[in-house]
Amino acid sequence: MKRILLLLMVMIPILTIHAQAPMAGGEWKDNTGRHINAHGGCIINYKGTYCWYGENRSSGNTLYSSKGVSCYTSKDLQNWTNKGVVLPVSNDTCSDIQEGCIIERPKVVYNKKTKEFVMWFHLELRGMGYKSARAGVAVSDTPLGPFRFVRSGRINAGILPKDFIEADTTELRQRLSEPAFNTWWTSPWYRQIERGMFMVRDLQGGQMARDMTIFIDDDGKAYHIYASEDNLTLHIAELTDDYLRHTGLYVRVAMGEQNEAPTIFKKDGVYWMITSGCTGWAPNAARLFRAKNIMGPWERLSNPCRGDGANKTFGAQGAYIFKIRKTKEKKMFDGADYVFMADMWRPKKITDSRYLWIPIRFEDGKPTLRANLLNTYQSSKSN
Ligand code: GAL
Repeated sequence: MKRILLLLMVMIPILTIHAQAPMAGGEWKDNTGRHINAHGGCIINYKGTYCWYGENRSSGNTLYSSKGVSCYTSKDLQNWTNKGVVLPVSNDTCSDIQEGCIIERPKVVYNKKTKEFVMWFHLELRGMGYKSARAGVAVSDTPLGPFRFVRSGRINAGILPKDFIEADTTELRQRLSEPAFNTWWTSPWYRQIERGMFMVRDLQGGQMARDMTIFIDDDGKAYHIYASEDNLTLHIAELTDDYLRHTGLYVRVAMGEQNEAPTIFKKDGVYWMITSGCTGWAPNAARLFRAKNIMGPWERLSNPCRGDGANKTFGAQGAYIFKIRKTKEKKMFDGADYVFMADMWRPKKITDSRYLWIPIRFEDGKPTLRANLLNTYQSSKSN
């Protein structure tokens, strides 16, 4: 009897952890019993508390349903307290973030110098569909907001990417008006896209910015990584020391390869980036890139996913890669230091989209995402 009791005492906490482990699918409930509404998000650890920020999408309508950016907090990555909407959309019709706009993929970082929390996000202005392709920025003194909207816009207007040959600009501008280079997806068109035809097209008004993330390097410098040039090419752009503006230094990455949903981390001096292809809300195969310098060159490697569902990123699309600091939480994620957080989109009712978190394992020196580490993946498929 004593032995059985002892066994139960050991087993119950283990079973509880596994039952709650937020790995994949299903509804993830907050402290009020509601499904967490923080899509396309990110997680930061501030003074021992995990803060999860993400898109707050109202039920009902699908696309044009942003309520702003939500925040949830947790001490253990399992129990999440709803802290409400920390950047609400505005009812001021002159505001860039007026109700009816689309706010996507918010990323919050802490600036040690200014002691401010800075939030960047993808913004589409009200009534314009996905045409605006802007980046927005907001700040707050505390992680729980309310964040104050600063500005939105396209990026690095009038500035050419690093090492771009200025003379090419004139030639590319000419190509833009030649019918031979204006039929999308043909090989002559691709060649000009790789060379920067759309970057030149957008030079004056600033570069398009849709799916995005923010990365803080070991030296405190921040970088904005976003899908630009009609989602055909990624840009990596340096931010100013206060993280509120772009310095003008940027590079084009994977030209014409259509990457979205950029996520990034750095380990042992190497930068790793995992992205998705460009198929809207539908999942596709993830892509992996490696670089020794954030400004490139970036080398494309093969799909980091393995196992059942690997060719569709297990039904999800990346949002962020966060670092786990405590041993207890590492155990929840197979001992991994980094977790790939992703969204299983449900475009018909976007607020009900599900989440998928996968520990990043290093195999053959490369980050790998394994289906067998998604303990609830199978059940999520039947949801
Ligand atoms: C996805 C993107 C989402 C959202 C969606 C709209 O590809 O990753 O954040 O923008 O397209 O169709």
